[in-house]
Amino acid sequence: MKIGVLISGRGSNLKALIESQENGTLGAEICTVISNVPQVMGLKIADDRQIENHVVDHKNYGSRELFEDELNSILQASDINLICLAGFMRILTSNFIKKWENKIINIHPSLLPAFKGLNTHERAIKSGAKFTGCSTHFVYPDLDEGPIIAQSVVPISQNDTVKTLSAKVLAEEHKLYPATVNLISRGLVKVQKSLVTIKLYSSPETSLVSPVIYD
Ligand code: GRF
Repeated sequence: MKIGVLISGRGSNLKALIESQENGTLGAEICTVISNVPQVMGLKIADDRQIENHVVDHKNYGSRELFEDELNSILQASDINLICLAGFMRILTSNFIKKWENKIINIHPSLLPAFKGLNTHERAIKSGAKFTGCSTHFVYPDLDEGPIIAQSVVPISQNDTVKTLSAKVLAEEHKLYPATVNLISRGLVKVQKSLVTIKLYSSPETSLVSPVIYD
């Protein structure tokens, strides 16, 4: 499976995906990295690993469609089968999403459908929730919508601040995202009527994935 990773910044999830590819647990090849923001850390991470990378600065395009035409031509040139959004801060149009139906996934730092959007950790702490976490999901046109693939749960302690909680959740993200890609690459993830089913066998690497509907 050939992956294109779309980023806008730090790139720590990109790094986790690259490391998983390097140690043979990703089941996929990261063929191209695209950032809509120039000179971000994620581009340097790709560059250091000699992974093809591009800047497609949305500010240089007159419309979302023209910006996405450029994304499409890069992704198609690399024969991409799966797009991973990893901290990509642009909303994609429904046309783009339709073109890549169930081929775009994202990681979000909350237990969806709770806390969609930004500032998830601050809102989780303020809400008094006892647990938060991260979710991988297929990307549908509405923000942070789309069938949930996998989740990791992180307890919120009374002493947690945004900084401590985001560090704990990020550590889970770095395990969950590669594990999700691995499941997809093995053909174990199916979307039926907007719900994801995952065929699981009892192996340690899939114990990360909970809760899900079992086939
Ligand atoms: C992560 O918290 C991810 O869940 C969210 O954006 C952040 C990106 O971080 N969508 P990084 O650029 O991967 O370090």
